[in-house]
Amino acid sequence: MDIKSISCVYFSPTGTTKTIIENIAQGLQAERVEMMDCTIRSLREKDSLVFNNDLVILATPVYYGRVPEEVVPFLKTLRVQNTPVVLTVVYGNREYEDALIELHDISVEQGFIPVAAGAFIAEHSYSNPSRPIAHARPDVDDIEKAQAFGSKIREKFKTIDSLEDIEKISVPGNIPYIEPENLNMIKQVRNTLSFTPETDKDKCIQCNLCAEVCPTQAINPEDISQINKWQCIICFACVKNCPTEAKQMNDPHFNAAIEQLQKACLERKEPEMYL
Ligand SMILES: Cc1cc2nc3c(=O)[nH]c(=O)nc-3n(C[C@H](O)[C@H](O)[C@H](O)COP(=O)(O)O)c2cc1C
Repeated sequence: MDIKSISCVYFSPTGTTKTIIENIAQGLQAERVEMMDCTIRSLREKDSLVFNNDLVILATPVYYGRVPEEVVPFLKTLRVQNTPVVLTVVYGNREYEDALIELHDISVEQGFIPVAAGAFIAEHSYSNPSRPIAHARPDVDDIEKAQAFGSKIREKFKTIDSLEDIEKISVPGNIPYIEPENLNMIKQVRNTLSFTPETDKDKCIQCNLCAEVCPTQAINPEDISQINKWQCIICFACVKNCPTEAKQMNDPHFNAAIEQLQKACLERKEPEMYL
């Protein structure tokens, strides 16, 4: 079978998931690649996407060892017939735990046919120069591996005549999936603390980019210093996209937790691929 066109459906607040799948798509060498960015809430709330026959790359970052909870309802609106899928999760060098199996199971429920899956590593959303976690990843090595993964999927397709010939893949993970304990704790802490990035008004140039890139529309576009703490998912899209570094997380509890996280993420992990 030839792969003529690919649709890449992805959630990527700080852009690393997008980079990985662009490189997988490059390795696949299809004639047409459509990027379907579902990071912004309004894009996830449009009419449901319908897939029929094209190869889809479905990709999300790992949040708390799982598929980000904001993305799950959107994934369950995808309407699918006879469509092979490449499942991709991207994580910040801690662990991906049950994110890949969760993405796999959702895709099968929607009617996709999983043909390959991969867990890739990228700079952690909470990494910064003084607190690096998988800093500057994906690096040259990661990019080469993502492209080679794409080539291998292409080769796999060459060995089959029809979608019925695709052998089932198996991906690691637990059933039931792990409880996202840190997420549950953050939700509780929010009764007393805001736990959201703050705006340095001296640095802010009022470009409103932070409000535009926020995946949950938690930032008030009329006054970007106002962040709805119940909507903010602490994805750091606003922090990492701010051109003047005006958005910063100053909460001491948060920063102490990330320092601990950094220590737990020092050993370099490598991408894992399932074909
Ligand atoms: C709320 C949140 C939870 C995260 N949980 C994990 C995790 O469980 N394991 C891990 O290794 N990285 C975790 N990360 C890091 C992201 O998975 C990683 O930085 C990813 O590359 C972000 O993708 P993006 O650049 O497409 O937004 C988390 C990041 C955020 C914002």
